[in-house]
Formats: sequence, C-alpha cells, structure tokens
Amino acid sequence: MLIDIEVNNKKIQAKKGETVLEALNKSGIKVPTLCRMEGFSSTGACRMCVVEVEGKSGLIPSCSYPIEESLKIRTHTPRVIQARKMLVELLLSNHPDDCLYCSSNSNCELQDMAVELNIRERRISGEKTKANIDQSSPGIVRDPAKCILCGRCVRVCEEVLGVSTFDFKKRGHKTGIATSMDKDLNFSNCVHCGQCLVVCPTGSLFEKTNIDVVQQMLNNQDVEVIVQYSPSIAVSIADELGLRPGKDLNGILNAVLRRIGFSRIFDTSFAADVAIFEQSAELADRIKNEENIPMLSSCCPAWIKHMEQSFPDMTDLVSTTKSPQQILGALIKTYYAQKENVAPEKIFSVSVMPCTAKKFESQREEMTQRGISDIDAVLTTRELLKLIRLYGIDVHSIDEEMSDNPFNTRSSASKLVSVSGGLSESLVRTLSYHLTGKELSNLKITKLRGTKEIRETEVKIGKYQVRLAVVNGLGTANKLLSEIREGKSKAHFIEIMACPGGCINGGGQPYDTDEKSLKNRSKAIYDLDEKEAIKVAHKNPSLISLYNEFLGDPFGEKSIKLLHTSYKKRDVLL
Ligand code: SF4
Ligand code: SF4
Ligand code: FES
Repeated sequence: MLIDIEVNNKKIQAKKGETVLEALNKSGIKVPTLCRMEGFSSTGACRMCVVEVEGKSGLIPSCSYPIEESLKIRTHTPRVIQARKMLVELLLSNHPDDCLYCSSNSNCELQDMAVELNIRERRISGEKTKANIDQSSPGIVRDPAKCILCGRCVRVCEEVLGVSTFDFKKRGHKTGIATSMDKDLNFSNCVHCGQCLVVCPTGSLFEKTNIDVVQQMLNNQDVEVIVQYSPSIAVSIADELGLRPGKDLNGILNAVLRRIGFSRIFDTSFAADVAIFEQSAELADRIKNEENIPMLSSCCPAWIKHMEQSFPDMTDLVSTTKSPQQILGALIKTYYAQKENVAPEKIFSVSVMPCTAKKFESQREEMTQRGISDIDAVLTTRELLKLIRLYGIDVHSIDEEMSDNPFNTRSSASKLVSVSGGLSESLVRTLSYHLTGKELSNLKITKLRGTKEIRETEVKIGKYQVRLAVVNGLGTANKLLSEIREGKSKAHFIEIMACPGGCINGGGQPYDTDEKSLKNRSKAIYDLDEKEAIKVAHKNPSLISLYNEFLGDPFGEKSIKLLHTSYKKRDVLL
C-alpha cells in the first residue's frame, strides 16, 4: 500500500513496510551506507545512513526504520551531515594512511565517503590497530588494520556460502573479525570463493595478485608463456572497458592477450567441451552400472574444498573429471608440448579465471605431473583488466583475432558452463550421445535455467529417465547434501557451483557486478547458444582430433590418467 510521507519538505509516496532507505533511494535521494548489502536484512552496524525523523530525539538509521503514516524526514540537515562526518573521521583515525598503495585505491567505499563528506584533513588521531597481514591463503589476503567492522564478509560467508569462516571476536574497542580460533585463513574452512572480498568496502580483504610474476615471465626469453581464459571472461569485461555491457569479446580478447605478449592464446571453452565429454561418459558409466549415484559435479574448486572438509563421506559421489582450467593445463604440457616439440618445463601456463578459488585449485598437489604444475599462475578477471591498462591497450581500436591451434574450436555448450544450470544442460546433450549414440531432440532445457535456488527436471534418454538437479550457491547445496545423506535424493546428477548465478558471478569478476550485469552476461551466453551451429561438446572438431590423435576413448586409460583426479578428507578448523 502506498502512503504519503514528507522528505526534505516535499511529499513523496512510499510503500508501507519498506525501509526509509528503500523509499529514499526509489525517490532518487542518496543516503550513504557502509554496512548495508542489497538483498540482505539490515544490521545497523555502521550508522552512516542516519536521518532526522520529526518527533524523534535521536538520529534514526534509515536502513532499518520502516515507512509509516505521516513520517517527516530530513536527510541532509547540518546535524545529520555532522554525524556522518564524525563517523567517517573516527573510522579514518584508526585506518592506515597508505591509500596510494592499497589494493582498493579508487575502489574503496570509505575513500568515497570521505570525499563525499569533504573530509580533507585528519582532525582526530586515534590509536591504530596493529595486526599482521594474513597472506597464508593462495587466493585471498587479509589486512585486519583496514577493517571497519561492517560485518559484510561475515554475512556473505554465512548466509550465501553457508561456510561461516569469519565471525566477530572480542568486544568494545577490541572488537575484530576473526576465523575460528583466530588462526590464519589457510587453517580455516575458507573455500577461497572470493565472495567476501567482493563485498568488503575497504582494502581489508583482497585477492593475492599474480600480475608481477606473469610480467616477469613475459620478459623471460627462455620460457614460452601461454594463456587460457575462461568462457565467462569474454562476456564479463565489456562494461569495464567502455563497451556494451555483456558484449561477447572473444575475438578482441584474443587480440588483447597477443598484444600483451602471450605466445599462445587458448579459450578454456575448448577444455569445457572436453570436461563435458569426460564427465558425461563418466555419468553414463555410473547410470549403466547403477553405482555412485547421484554424481556430483566437479568444476567448481570452492565446492570441492567444501565437500572435502564438510562432506568427506561424499567423496565417491563427486565426478573425478578435472575442471576445464586443469584439463587445459594438463593438455598444454602434454599434447601441445609434444605436438610443438617444446619441453613442458619450458612452458609457463597462465589462466585467466572469474574466481579466486582457481588460484587454490592450481596449487593442489594432485594437479601436477612428474613434479610439473599443470597451471603456473592464475589471474582473475580483475587482474586481467589491470594488465590491459598496464599495457596501454585501447580495445576500441583493435580487430578481432582467432585463438590458437590445436584448441581453437568450441561448441556453444562449452559457454553455457559459465551460468548456473549450464553445465547440466550441456552435459545431458552429450550424455544422450554416450548412452544411446543419438542426439537429444530438444537441446534447450529451460527448467534448468534461471536463478531459483534449486532447479530440477527429468530427461528421457533411451530407456533411462535421467533426473537432474541444479543448486544455485553453496549455501543452498548444504540442504541438498543433507538429503543425499538421508537417502532422500532421487537425482542422477547434481550441479553445484559455490557462487550464486555460477562463474559469471565469481569472486574474481569485476567489483561492480550487480543483477543487471548478471542478466546481461547470461543473456549473451544463451544468445550465443541460439545462433551457433555446433551446440554439443562431442561435435567440436578440435576435440575429435584430440581424442583421435592422443587420448583415445573418453573416460579411457589415458584420459583418466591426465584429465581425472581424486579427493581426500581435509582437516580444517571448523
Ligand atoms: S573466500 Fe568465501 S569461504 Fe572464504 S571467507 Fe570469503 S566468503 Fe567465506
Ligand atoms: S573485513 Fe571488510 S567486509 Fe569484513 S567486516 Fe572488515 S571491512 Fe567489513
Ligand atoms: S547502512 Fe544503515 S546502519 Fe549501516
């Protein structure tokens, strides 16, 4: 129900029950916030959103105060501005002064707030929090001195991921954010998904960068520096580069990476086709033999770590197929190296991924062959964007180029893997080929698309009624995994990705990713699937050559050795 309220002496209409902040934002009145996150209930931790409400003596946090009849609100009175200014000055009094060198420089909400409130000098000099920077995680760095206690990381990790790595510790001026028993991140149950650093308003949480090492290797004449980029990258960077949001930049990306100096450019989409081909062969095998059902997906390294530490009894259910990043890494240092007559140790293999957990995955000891890592350095989408700026590349004046042989073709199914539900849709297309030798008559499985927490459907393939389920985000996965434990799940295959929406919303994607960007990215991917000729992984010509020339059968002896892995129970502090 709409009711009239008064804001800054003007009548506006607002919905009864919504918060004052929501009503103000809808009317185009901007009120600063630091702890609030879209889609989450308010905690009232920062008090930046305070306003004056007629009849109330104190200032009211607008993010939690509900709209009611006859409200009269003032949003920018001298008292309100002074209160906000004082809050920011107090935060700054306990904040390091190294903005120029901070990873969040020019992407920091505290910095923005200081500019907005015209804070140009340090009037309060408080005692600074002394804390060691935690560099122990392969993907995430934590600088507690820059924490402003907004609690966003705590909530995302608990409510979205269902992992609960962080919590508040101590009280009063000693309050802080800590992992279990205040240990470093690598001892914790953190799955390295990166969702907390995306929401952190300051430089307290940020990714561990590999830009320097990649640059050093690009200058080293003795090694061949090869790069692969994930299927989601091409649709995730356009807005950051001033192009139409969601535009597919595959061809431009190939040209950009060549200009940076990589000797070979490979699209990981090729390896996504290989992953689909292997994983569906594995699933066909399990369905025929009626063992280890439901098969759980294995592409997402954050989910895999979560399973190893919280659901180790389910290890046998998880597909053994490596992720596309690791499959291509393994093929570059074997098939490609052999074809091009390069020693694997002379190859430095870089991947560009939407995800900080990929940094962790590349360092798993199972991902090496004879002591040589399949992948040597992982960059996130954000690091790629920094590299593009560092090398002064203007994407507006660049022509599209092809990726390199022998991995330069892909199906549109490989691109679907970037969105939640896309892996299942792609998998079932090739599962039909493995189970019956025939193509599915209807390739588009709309019931698996969208953002619903759990999506389920059944597909008739020959004599089999195959049941598929998709889980949107790790938090939701916990529910379904408990059902499996209780023997209640009827699915043959369950797709689990840690980040809601899938890799297009990974923790390594541009900071400004919102619902609209996600829609643009998934639309670009589904449009591509509509218009491309090769829609199934098993018809990718480069994949057919790879199996004919090198691997033999899918899920055969050679591919099991190179492209499959194993899992183990992981002891962490829960
Ligand atoms: S990286 Fe993911 S799992 Fe780790 S603390 Fe952050 S949100 Fe939690
Ligand atoms: S680490 Fe960042 S997100 Fe977490 S409480 Fe501190 S400032 Fe907020
Ligand atoms: S945004 Fe309202 S209290 Fe933080």
